[in-house]
Amino acid sequence: METLIKTIDNKLDEYLQITYPKQIFEAMKYTLMLPGKRLRPILCLETVKMLGGNIETAYPIACAIEMLHAQSLIHDDLPCMDNDDFRRGQPSNHKVFGEANAVLAGDALLTLAPQIIIEKSTQLHNDTILKLVHEYTKFAGAYALIAGQVVDIDSENGVFEKTQEETLEFIHLNKTASLFRLAIRCGAIIADPSKLNELDDFAKKFGLAFQIYDDIMDEIATFEELGKSIGKDKKSNKLTFVSLYGLDEAKLKFKLLINDCYGIVNKYESKIFNKILEKLRNRILGV
Ligand code: IPE
Ligand code: IPE
Ligand code: MG
Ligand code: MG
Ligand code: MG
Repeated sequence: METLIKTIDNKLDEYLQITYPKQIFEAMKYTLMLPGKRLRPILCLETVKMLGGNIETAYPIACAIEMLHAQSLIHDDLPCMDNDDFRRGQPSNHKVFGEANAVLAGDALLTLAPQIIIEKSTQLHNDTILKLVHEYTKFAGAYALIAGQVVDIDSENGVFEKTQEETLEFIHLNKTASLFRLAIRCGAIIADPSKLNELDDFAKKFGLAFQIYDDIMDEIATFEELGKSIGKDKKSNKLTFVSLYGLDEAKLKFKLLINDCYGIVNKYESKIFNKILEKLRNRILGV
């Protein structure tokens, strides 16, 4: 996994060339290159590998998804959103570069990503590239990630159009599972589209489990472990699995989803998928 992370970091660095006006590229690069877990590009590349594809063909899409993720983090931390001062162990983007540059850096990452898919996917057919860009636009936009963020912010203010249970699932599926779906679906499109539906089901369950993990960690972890402020969800009155169901019930829901994930992915004998599931499960449920 460490070698894979290094490869991803090298590619991210290569794809984001700094030019005039420097400050925007530096703001983009700052959050992008800080040490994140790189889960989405790893899952994209590992999907390609376990379905028998060549992972080199997927570097551009994998990195594009990490750019989109970095954009979502930069904007998520803005004062008008979650108002978080720390990200990946360092001051948030707007704390270093100012709000205007942070908004623009997010916009720039969001648009650089499809540019990279189109320009750098030289080993893929044009019809595959078109499918990848279509997936990117579907999951980055108002029908997915942005929808989740909108309802997440509404929920802080007590605005609900559906039951709290339905609202919570909608938020988590859209704001978080969207990027895992994008990563894994694109891997399947490149290597073996016949597995797309089954792996998409995995991605939805994994995404839901991952946001429950994040909600639980906001309660139980330390700043040093997470690299971001903790206890923020409670303070800002966020609707989370912990706030709605309590810590124990949230852990139970997490466990059931992770077990479902194992059930799907065990067929493929992927060391990396198993390692990621194990890491998350052990942190929440103990070894
Ligand atoms: C943070 O994602 C945002 C959520 C969806 C909870 P990660 O926990 O994957 O963040 P990094 O990439 O490791 O910083
Ligand atoms: C993550 O939700 C969703 C996105 C960033 C799109 P959170 O707001 O819970 O993520 P953290 O806790 O700030 O990383
Ligand atoms: Mg948020
Ligand atoms: Mg946040
Ligand atoms: Mg969180």
